Amino acid sequence: MTTEAPAADLLPFRAADYRADPAPYYARLRREAPVYRHPTGVCVVSRYEDVAKLIRNPTLSVRKLDFGVADPLHDTMLGQDAPDHTRLRRVTNRWFTPKAVEKWAKVMQASVDAVLDEAATGDGTLDAVSDLALRSTFDTICHVFGIEPAKMLEIQKYTYDIGLSLGPGSDEDDWRISGEAFEWYEEHVRGLIAHKRADPGDGLIDAFLAAQDEGRMSENEVVRTILLFFAVGHLDIKHLIVQGVRHMAEHPEYIGIYRDRPEARPGFINEILRIETPEQMVARLTTQETAIGDTTVPAGEVLVLLIGSANRDPEVFPDPDRFDHTRPVAAGQHLAFGSGQHGCAGQVLARAEADVVFTSLVNRFSTIELAGEPAFTHTEFLRSIARLPIRLR
Ligand code: HEM
Repeated sequence: MTTEAPAADLLPFRAADYRADPAPYYARLRREAPVYRHPTGVCVVSRYEDVAKLIRNPTLSVRKLDFGVADPLHDTMLGQDAPDHTRLRRVTNRWFTPKAVEKWAKVMQASVDAVLDEAATGDGTLDAVSDLALRSTFDTICHVFGIEPAKMLEIQKYTYDIGLSLGPGSDEDDWRISGEAFEWYEEHVRGLIAHKRADPGDGLIDAFLAAQDEGRMSENEVVRTILLFFAVGHLDIKHLIVQGVRHMAEHPEYIGIYRDRPEARPGFINEILRIETPEQMVARLTTQETAIGDTTVPAGEVLVLLIGSANRDPEVFPDPDRFDHTRPVAAGQHLAFGSGQHGCAGQVLARAEADVVFTSLVNRFSTIELAGEPAFTHTEFLRSIARLPIRLR
């Protein structure tokens, strides 16, 4: 293993074919340079065994990482180490337990039903991204917040813009766009808070404001945590839903499997998450000398943990590029939700939301067809689909 840069850039974040499909690049990296010093200076880790260990290693820091223009995210649990991380996470924990999620799934169901009712009365065509996945996940997170859904398309756009600055290949243009997105968000969220102060309720935003009044959160932490939940409430989950719908459209046998064999459903969702991992990477900073396989890196290294690559590691997932919903994947084996103290706080909700959409589709329609080419978007950090026209019959 080496941390020296090989002659060629093994991870050309900006190359079109890398963006279209990073899997072959990941495979080469795992074989030739599993601990790879990228030309940008970061140290990229690509094998499952290493990524899984490091993502759970409590000596690694996110607080000490330079987030650049995304610095406001340091005021959220995503950018904090213990004990502040624990303090912030505690405020939201009870909002995403399996019991709470039962309630949110009903909201999601009503939103999905409304979209599908409309499709059923029309010619059955819709965009699985904006009409179905975005609409229903956004309605749900707004309900959790205790607010009326508003500014959905702006929130989608500015969240994507923030994502541009989070990847190691980001440049000055990305930072500018991302900085403007933070400004828009801060103003929007502060407006929502002013309304809530004037007209309180019992949603998650009210819980944040109560935590602020009791000294458990600062004002900036409240503003930026609301921003975080707006983002995570629709972003990766939209990708999971749309990839699942696309998979059913391209492999119609999954419509029957999902409808008739409820025991197969968790395996289907896991396999979409594994093979189409929405967040391709997470970053950490070493605070002490850290062993990664045969390599030792010093304190102060920025580690990029490539969970998209770990999830395709043949050592753990034989024939990794093949979709196989019967794979014996224990719920926690793929790393799409991260793991350890920063492991996804919304994963129960995410699985439930995806299941509501897939179950509703297969129970109401026997055919899901692509009605146009999918439009992919891709930052090196987040793989996503911007548009997926489908026809339901
Ligand atoms: C398919 C959907 C989702 C995927 C793939 C996903 C993925 C992830 C990943 C990889 C992380 C870890 C980040 C890191 O280690 O730096 C994370 C953290 C987080 N996720 Fe999700 N997520 C999803 C949906 C959601 C939803 C629906 C919510 C809540 C509404 C949510 C809330 C969070 C929060 C709050 C964190 C930060 C946890 C912490 O730092 O302690 N996520 N998610």
